[in-house]
Amino acid sequence: MRLRYFVLLPVLVLIRLVLIPLVLMPLGVARAFFQAATATPSPVHLTSEQDHQRVMDLLHISALRRGPDGDPKSPNAANVDEAKVPKYSLPDPLVLKNGQKVTTAAMWWQQRRPEIVEDFDREIYGRAPANAPKVNWEVTSTSRETVGDIPVVTKKLVGHVDNASYPLITVDIQLTLTTPANATRPVPVMMEFGLSPEILAAIKKRFTDAQWTAFNGNGPPWQQLVLAKGWGYAILIPTSVQADNGEGLTQGIIGLVDKGQPRKLDDWGALRAWAWGASRALDYFETDKTVDAKQVGIEGLSRYGKAALVTMVYDPRFAIGFIGSSGEGGAKILRRKFGEQVENVASTSEYHWMAGNFLKYAGPLTPDDLPVDAHELVALCAPRPVFISSGSLQVEGGWIDGKGMFLGGVGAGPVYRLLGKKDLGTAEMPPMETALIDGEIAFRQHSAGHTTGPNWPTFLTFAGRYIKGPGNSAVPAASKH
Ligand code: GCU
Repeated sequence: MRLRYFVLLPVLVLIRLVLIPLVLMPLGVARAFFQAATATPSPVHLTSEQDHQRVMDLLHISALRRGPDGDPKSPNAANVDEAKVPKYSLPDPLVLKNGQKVTTAAMWWQQRRPEIVEDFDREIYGRAPANAPKVNWEVTSTSRETVGDIPVVTKKLVGHVDNASYPLITVDIQLTLTTPANATRPVPVMMEFGLSPEILAAIKKRFTDAQWTAFNGNGPPWQQLVLAKGWGYAILIPTSVQADNGEGLTQGIIGLVDKGQPRKLDDWGALRAWAWGASRALDYFETDKTVDAKQVGIEGLSRYGKAALVTMVYDPRFAIGFIGSSGEGGAKILRRKFGEQVENVASTSEYHWMAGNFLKYAGPLTPDDLPVDAHELVALCAPRPVFISSGSLQVEGGWIDGKGMFLGGVGAGPVYRLLGKKDLGTAEMPPMETALIDGEIAFRQHSAGHTTGPNWPTFLTFAGRYIKGPGNSAVPAASKH
């Protein structure tokens, strides 16, 4: 009896403490794994300030330089005096990183262009994901209306982004497409990165009619001018793709691809996300019989002017770009000390447009350390036509740096010439309202404010050389190389 007790007890203890847990543990571990794999963590929520700080920490940066102020009366006002612009030197778009000169179109396409793209991807705008989800376009309404005197058909569309990989984030891209009702053939389309009609109405309310006209110029709306050529127009709402703030980076298309987690340092920012949205709209146009998808242009103003330029760069299917007052981060030479500066774009209110890595150039590095500059961004559009648009220094102000954008166009000239195209024709900033539209890079400064409005007629004259209306035989600019 005693012996039995002595033998049995350790056996029981062994079973209880070792064998049972040994059998059950794998089951528990497996269950824990299963739960982790299936329970979807909610999107991280950080304010713009918190996310900006997170990026600084990742870069081991303790402080950034403060940018100048847009208000001309501020003691820290941005420089708008040409005489005070220090000298700077620009990277040569036609010299390889190994010092070799780029002398043929093949060297540009195969060697130099990829080098420049890599620098913009890693340091400036971030990389768009290779595995971005598919978009399923739905026409939610079709209506017949009249714009000016022209009967048109307007389709409202929603691009549902496939969110099977992360169902907690929904992205529905808003787009409208308007084409002449009487068109007998597919028509060219100008697409604008636009404000939603609700936001536009709210902004307009803050101005008197006279102020609104002075600011926008008083020509007919661009939509009428486009229709008068027999073309159509489209309006894409960028903020339906990606919010225009740092807080939204774990939402929208960027958040969806990152499954609600904060960005890596070379992940795409809002500008590339908006450009991605424009490319998805172009995918839809390729399926719509009313549109000649080989003749689609992109236009935008200011931050959306930057986005329009980025769209041209990354999607060669876009035939032409109308780049309005794009300023710093757009066609303006980044390192030119006039108007807005790199430090402003690296601040909490604008950094989300760019890759996290961009912050480095606002401290400890400087804009002179940038491996590329805006002239090379314009050059990446070559050989396709681009029109760089600015307002007047007096009415629009110097923040967007009209001359800096002009110089972005000048610096792209050698690449266009190498590819057999014509540049701006001069390196001297032309007087206001002088159109430089004889080559594939065009420029005009109108006399109104922060708008593309008064430059539309000139843009359309320029565009008419490349984009052919219905009935003409079209030479799609995008397929020339
Ligand atoms: C701010 C910003 C500019 C931008 C502009 C706009 O002024 O600093 O970079 O272009 O907003 O989008 O209107």
